[in-house]
Amino acid sequence: MAQVGRILFLPGDGIGAEVMTEVRRVIGWLARRGIEFAVEEDLVGGAAYDVHGVPLTDATMAKANEIGTVMFGAVGGPKYDDLPFALKPERGLLRLRKEMDLFANLRPAIVFPALAGASSLKPELVEGLDVMILRELTGGVYFGEPRGITELADGQKRAVDTQVYTTSEIERVARVGFELARKRRNKVHSVEKANVMHTGVLWRQTVQALRDRDYPDVELEHMYADNCAMQLVRRPKQFDVIVTDNLFGDLLSDCAAMLTGSLGMLPSASLGAADANGRRKAMYEPVHGSAPDIAGQGIANPIACLMSFAMLLRYSFDLGAEADRLEKAISNVLDQGYRTADIAQDGCTRVSTSGMGDAILKELDRLA
Ligand code: NAI
Ligand code: MG
Repeated sequence: MAQVGRILFLPGDGIGAEVMTEVRRVIGWLARRGIEFAVEEDLVGGAAYDVHGVPLTDATMAKANEIGTVMFGAVGGPKYDDLPFALKPERGLLRLRKEMDLFANLRPAIVFPALAGASSLKPELVEGLDVMILRELTGGVYFGEPRGITELADGQKRAVDTQVYTTSEIERVARVGFELARKRRNKVHSVEKANVMHTGVLWRQTVQALRDRDYPDVELEHMYADNCAMQLVRRPKQFDVIVTDNLFGDLLSDCAAMLTGSLGMLPSASLGAADANGRRKAMYEPVHGSAPDIAGQGIANPIACLMSFAMLLRYSFDLGAEADRLEKAISNVLDQGYRTADIAQDGCTRVSTSGMGDAILKELDRLA
C-alpha cells in the first residue's frame, strides 16, 4: 500500500484530544481504502507542561518542522490559568505558528443547508454560503516595532503599536489568495484601509500588481475593511476569497464565523511558504478551544476538527476528491438530523462525539 505522507498529531487538552480521536478514525477509514498516512503523536499545551514543564519541547518543535504537516486539537484549561506567560499552553501554539512561519491563515465560513437556521442572519442570506477568509498571520501590528508602553515626563503613559508590511509579505499571502480563488469561484476581495493607512496603500498596490502580472484570469476587487465588515453581514454571498492583514483578518474572520452558527463547526488551516517541490509546511486546527466546561463528557462536536482534516487532505496532499467526500458526508449526516448538543434542534437525533463520528464513517462508506 502506498503511503501518501506523514502527519504530526498534537491533540492537546480538553476536547482537543476528544475531537482528534474522530480524525484518527477517518484516517483508519482512508487506510482501509488504500490511502495511508504515517501518524506520529506528541504532546502540546497543558499536556506537555504536565510531563515536561513547558507547553512545547524543542524536540516536538523540531519534529513539527521536519514532518511539516501538523494536525492540532486545542490547548488550555483552568488548571493552567495561573502559570507565567511563557509557560501558558497557548505559547505552544504560538511557537508552532511562528517557527513554522505559517503566514497564511485560512478560515472558511461554510453554511451547511441543514444549519442555515442557526445563523445570526436570515436563512436566505446565508444558505449555501462558502466564504474563505485569508488572514496574514505573521506580520502587521502584532509584531511591528516600535511597540510598548512608556512613561512620560508629566506622569502620563504613552502606548505605541506599529503596523509594518513589506511588499514580499503582502505578495506571498496574496498569492495564496489567488491560488485558492482559482480552485473556487475565481474572485478575490483584497481588504485594507488605504484611505487612512500607508500599509493599506502598499497592500492595495502590491495585490493589484501581482494580479495583473500573474493572475489576470482572477477577478480582483479592493474594499475598505469597515465596508467589508458591513457587507459580510449585509450580503455575505458576494464573497469568494477575502485576503487581508493580521488585525483586520482577526476581526473579519470572527464576524464571518457567526454567520455559520456554531464554534464547533469552524475549521482552519495555516500555511507556510512552498518549497522547491511546491510543498508547504502547514498546521490544521479547529477554531474552538479546549472547552473545559464540556471536556471529559464525550459530547464535543468533532465537525470543526474533521473539516480541518478535510483541509489537510486538500491543501497538503492534493487529495481534493477525498476532502470533498468527507465534507459531503458531514453535510449529509446533518441533513439526516444527527446533532451534537451544541447544534441540537427540535426533532433531531442527539449524538455524542463518537456517535457523530459513527454517523460520518457510515456515510463515508455509503459515498465510497
Ligand atoms: P472554547 O472555544 O474552548 O469554548 C467556548 C464555548 O464554546 C464553550 O461553551 C464550549 O463548550 C463551546 N464549544 C467550543 N468548541 C465546541 C465543540 N467542538 N463542541 C461543542 N461545544 C463547543 O473557548 P473558551 O471557553 O474561551 O476557552 C477555553 C480554553 O481554551 C481556554 O484555556 C482558552 O485559552 C483555550 N483556547 C484555546 C484555543 C486553541 O487551542 N486554539 C482557542 C481558543 C481558546
Ligand atoms: Mg480572534
